[in-house]
Parts: sequence; structure tokens; C-alpha cells
Amino acid sequence: MLSLKGLNTHYGASHILQGVDLEVQKGRIAAILGRNGVGKTTTVKTIMGLVPASGGSVGLDGQPITGLPPHRVARAGVAYVPEGRLIFPDLTVVENIRVAERTPAKSWPLSRLLALFPSLNERQRNKGTQLSGGEQQMLAIARALISDPKVLLLDEPSQGLAPLVVRELARIIHLLRDAGVTILLIEQNMKLAEAVADELHIMVKGRIVYSADPQRFRTEADQVRSRYLTV
Ligand SMILES: Nc1ncnc2c1ncn2[C@@H]1O[C@H](COP(=O)(O)OP(=O)(O)O)[C@@H](O)[C@H]1O
Ligand SMILES: [Mg+2]
Repeated sequence: MLSLKGLNTHYGASHILQGVDLEVQKGRIAAILGRNGVGKTTTVKTIMGLVPASGGSVGLDGQPITGLPPHRVARAGVAYVPEGRLIFPDLTVVENIRVAERTPAKSWPLSRLLALFPSLNERQRNKGTQLSGGEQQMLAIARALISDPKVLLLDEPSQGLAPLVVRELARIIHLLRDAGVTILLIEQNMKLAEAVADELHIMVKGRIVYSADPQRFRTEADQVRSRYLTV
């Protein structure tokens, strides 16, 4: 489904991604964990075509999408929820979703999104600025879903959210997976990743250095945390 092979990315002379290999099968939730600055956001930006790859490839359903501009990557079926959410503050909830609809949504029309996110349903006419952090995150996900993506890239969705809201986010992510959406979840915080992921990967200096299923991850979590995640 989503396949990264030997992916390399530079910012000028800085070599950030140094050969990222990752395969995420359809309908799975893969999490990439890692300390600040290791290249997690650069990975999703490179997948999306926002940053050019300097080597390696990105494939979607066996088709290469490396080097395509972001709108073509989006059309191929990849949706991106950036770090910090970036919703439109002066637009209402419904307007924020509507502006992202390119063709009439088949899998995720507005009615289904509002049913999926009860808090957004209650605030349909509220503006972006009037939403809590959790509601903004749900809105950013709803906006990504209206393009009917095959793959959803979530960059640190739990950042700054209260535990109760993170639990709601976990519920939504599971529902999306069960509806057939493949999810690449980027997290610095282990909580959400541990709660939802089918596979966990750790990034250090632009490479995946550790991969495990949740069962193995749980037994090794303490070592993994101190070796790769704590500062
Ligand atoms: N636009 C940019 N120009 C130059 N360096 C950047 C840019 N964006 C990120 N970097 C650097 O690339 C490295 C990886 O950043 P990033 O992918 O954002 O890390 P993470 O998401 O894991 O915290 C960091 O050292 C960061 O300073
Ligand atoms: Mg980041």
C-alpha cells in the first residue's frame, strides 16, 4: 500500500532522511516515534511531495509517487494532517471542511463526517478560533477525510491535548482503520501510538532503527524509551 524505499531528503547541505525503509499494508496503523528533530515531519512532507526526495522512492498501491507535486500526491489518495492542525480561523467548521472537498466525497461526505465527530456536529457554525484544541484536531482530520484518502498521514495529532481527548482521538483512528483507511501516525509521545498502532517504528537520525508489533513493543517499552525516546 504505502511503501518507502531508501528514502533520502536534504535541506540544502543537511542530510535529514538517510534511507527510510517502511511498508505499511492496507488498513493498518503504523506509528513512527522519535525524539524531536530526527526527521519525522520531513518523512511525511517528503511522502506528500512538499519536500523533494534526493534519493529512494515512495510508492502507493505499487505505483511510484516520488517526485509528484503535492496536489498529484493528494489526488493519488494521500491526505495530510500537519503538525499544529492549520485550520482556517475565520471559517466555520463546515466551511473548513467544504473548502477541502475537490469532487463530491464518496466515502466520507459531510454527513458521515459530522456523525463521526459529534463535537463538530454540535459546532457546525462555530469559527475555527472558537474551537478547543481537541475540536481543531478533529476538524483537521475531517478536512483530510473529505478527499476520500486511501492513506492518512497524521503528524503529532495528540500534541497539547488532554488525556480524555487523546482517548477520543484513539477511538476515531480505530474507526478509520476499520473503515479501510491506512494510517501513518507520527508521534513524539508514546501514549497514542501505543494505544492504536498495529506496528511501531522508531526513527533516529533519519532512519528507522527499530520496528515491533504492539505485543513485543510492550515488553520492550522501557528499554526502547530510555534508548531512543527520552532526551
Ligand atoms: N525547512 C527546513 N530547512 C532546514 N532544515 C530543516 C527544515 N525543516 C526541518 N529542518 C531540520 O531537519 C531536521 C528534522 O526536522 P523534522 O523532520 O521537523 O523533525 P521531527 O519532526 O522529527 O521533530 C531538524 O534538524 C530540523 O531542524
Ligand atoms: Mg515534527
